[in-house]
Amino acid sequence: MREIKVLIADDIKQTRENIRMLLELDPLIQVVGEAADGEQTLEMARMTSPDVVLMDINMPVMDGIKATEMLTIHFPRIAVIVISVQGEQEYLKKAMMAGAREYMIKPFTADELISTIKRVVEINQKRWEAQQAPLQTAAPSHKPQIITVFSAKGGAGRTTLAVNLAVALAQQTEERVALVDLDLQFGDVAVMMNIHPKRTIAELMQENEEFDRDLLESYLYGRNGVNVLAAPNKPELAELVNEEGVNKILRGLAGFHSYVVVDTACAFNDITLAAFDQSDSILMVVTPDLPSLKDNKRALDLARTLSLQPKIKLVLNRSGGGYGIEDEDVERAMEMRIDASFSSDSRLVMTSINRGIPFVIMDPGSPLTRSIHTLLPQVARLERNTVKNSAAPKKAGFLRRRREQLALQ
Ligand SMILES: Nc1ncnc2c1ncn2[C@@H]1O[C@H](COP(=O)(O)OP(=O)(O)O)[C@@H](O)[C@H]1O
Ligand SMILES: [Mg+2]
Repeated sequence: MREIKVLIADDIKQTRENIRMLLELDPLIQVVGEAADGEQTLEMARMTSPDVVLMDINMPVMDGIKATEMLTIHFPRIAVIVISVQGEQEYLKKAMMAGAREYMIKPFTADELISTIKRVVEINQKRWEAQQAPLQTAAPSHKPQIITVFSAKGGAGRTTLAVNLAVALAQQTEERVALVDLDLQFGDVAVMMNIHPKRTIAELMQENEEFDRDLLESYLYGRNGVNVLAAPNKPELAELVNEEGVNKILRGLAGFHSYVVVDTACAFNDITLAAFDQSDSILMVVTPDLPSLKDNKRALDLARTLSLQPKIKLVLNRSGGGYGIEDEDVERAMEMRIDASFSSDSRLVMTSINRGIPFVIMDPGSPLTRSIHTLLPQVARLERNTVKNSAAPKKAGFLRRRREQLALQ
């Protein structure tokens, strides 16, 4: 094992010295710095790039919880171990939510501290490698599948489902999966995947070169086995993206990915329609409430007039909450059978979103993960599951079709 660099953050000098003495017992551990408050911790972390920060909770200027949160966001490679005293349970929970990897309650022995540090570093290293894992190399054995997740209502769970579906596809098929955020003004894919993108679809659109593999790859961020093309960092940049650009991007990505998952804004506009047009499957996400059913039914009717119906799968999110609308009511309202249903689990979904770890990774045994797995064979070419293959002939572009339809009226 290589040397482990540790930063000690505690406002009491004596405590820092005691910890330093414990750590000196292990030749592999090197204390690279000490900090007396949260701000100093961030500064020292930037300067010394430690593997581990031992973090006290109660510190002046910026407390350990806030500092943990900032470290998790800005230095995701650093593992935080929170050190506290008995009776701080509430803080501990907050610290873990802020991204701390482990906590220790005083008093502890040198052995306990050292073995915890080593274990955390090892797990963190594995996690980091998994996150950076270059994208799968297996050659696609089938035509690339483009899957768009849509809802006519915001907050339906599109992004949550798109992210988890993409990660599960990568895990299950071991093929290359791309995830494109077409919620151009307020895209959340990057946050949910814990990415801080500098190069987004907005910058890509300003390239004059051809959208070939090399160029597209330079805009993709690898996370959890998935290649992410992020939405613009500012809402006003959304207008740089047009329908033709979307077509080129999706076609380009499908050239070297087996699956391209697309997240959308809740608007039936040129961008969304371009994605629909390129897609093999469209997941329409509804929640069991009247506005969602009404708006999505309208969207579904419009999709029908555009002959998109064969691609559509109806996905019910937050089902079974006892809100007075049952699955049968949803099917009756939508005049369509539900293809996959996701129960309501705010605790798992919110924790996973706040930690930037998709729930299929955070809780592989949860009912929500199981629902993702029932959805997979419906949109993927999995070996053992014969997939319903909509034999619809390839259609002309959306605009041409719309023109043809208008001509018929
Ligand atoms: N199955 C679920 N159970 C509980 N909460 C959920 C579920 N799916 C989504 N949510 C919550 O709904 C909110 C909106 O989800 P999001 O994926 O951002 O929706 P959209 O992309 O459609 O706007 C999030 O705060 C998320 O925590
Ligand atoms: Mg969203």
